[in-house]
Amino acid sequence: MKKLGVAVIGTGFWGKNHARIFRELPETELLAICDINAERAKAAAHQFGVKPFKDAGRMLKDESIEAVSVCTWSTSLAKEALKALRAGKHVLVEKPMATNTTQAKKLLETADKEGLHLTVGLLMRFIPGVQYIRNAVENKNVGNPVCATAKRVAQWPERIGDVGVVKDTAIHDLDVMRYIFNEDPIAVYAKTGSMRNRKFEDYAQIMLTFEGDKSAFIESNWLTPYKTRMLIMTGSEAIVKLDYITQELTIENAKETVQPRCIPQEPLKLELQHFAKCITRKEKPMVTGMDGLRALQIAEAALRSSATNRVVKLRD
Ligand SMILES: NC(=O)c1ccc[n+]([C@@H]2O[C@H](COP(=O)([O-])OP(=O)(O)OC[C@H]3O[C@@H](n4cnc5c(N)ncnc54)[C@H](O)[C@@H]3O)[C@@H](O)[C@H]2O)c1
Repeated sequence: MKKLGVAVIGTGFWGKNHARIFRELPETELLAICDINAERAKAAAHQFGVKPFKDAGRMLKDESIEAVSVCTWSTSLAKEALKALRAGKHVLVEKPMATNTTQAKKLLETADKEGLHLTVGLLMRFIPGVQYIRNAVENKNVGNPVCATAKRVAQWPERIGDVGVVKDTAIHDLDVMRYIFNEDPIAVYAKTGSMRNRKFEDYAQIMLTFEGDKSAFIESNWLTPYKTRMLIMTGSEAIVKLDYITQELTIENAKETVQPRCIPQEPLKLELQHFAKCITRKEKPMVTGMDGLRALQIAEAALRSSATNRVVKLRD
């Protein structure tokens, strides 16, 4: 089997994980990495035994590179992803995909026009427990779905902080809610703010409403001194809880509490393997460019809701 030639743009904390996995997967061959920080590029290239680049434009001229992961700062993701698409490469762009929805739409249009694969790093969908919950909702194993609650809180991350907690962190849960209900929310109401006088919000409480009286509640912050990442799905007949950190699932109903065995998996590995397979087999990815755009649209609507203290209706 011919391996898919790949490269990574941005080799900080997360880009190095992409590079490591691309090197491990039988489906991919890591050919190059790029970082605007030359020292970082050199160190990562040495670690992974590939060529370093400081400038993505030069790297993208290499025709053996068929696909790239874009893992730069959030505010430069869209620019680098657009460069890669224009150079004819398939792209996995990290969340939040772009700083705003105008940039995200441009990525969708370009990928579509060039016939290229575009996916977004909304990797919670690859966690087996999230798949389980989606199936439980679809097959009515929880009865009628009523409400989903997500909590993703931790201390201030030692990162650049070029976007706030909504676009950086809550965006995962906005996507998960769309995914498990398999539909778009119709309205959003949110409260966000900066407790520590930061440039962007460091806490957010977001409520989404869906057709048929279903709702979702998301709590995200960079204030809580310990890390908690939970998803709870409440149905008329049962409650399913997922601890994202241990990947443990618990199902409770009136008679019993059950813990189905879900073998923990590295979601990034599953995501990158899926990315490579979809390109090779010309299949639609689990997370489309449109999914990335939708999550970003809801994030922007949540920020608007908080700024105006109003419910924001989400249109098509
Ligand atoms: N999907 C997830 O669960 C997940 C997890 C962590 C981070 N991320 C995303 O990955 C991205 C990177 O996060 P991080 O924690 O690795 O940040 P980081 O600051 O550790 O690394 C970013 C790297 O990108 C480089 N860079 C910035 N602009 C560049 C450009 N135009 N061209 C080339 N290199 C450039 C920087 O020099 C730095 O080395 C962010 O967008 C973040 O939201 C996603």
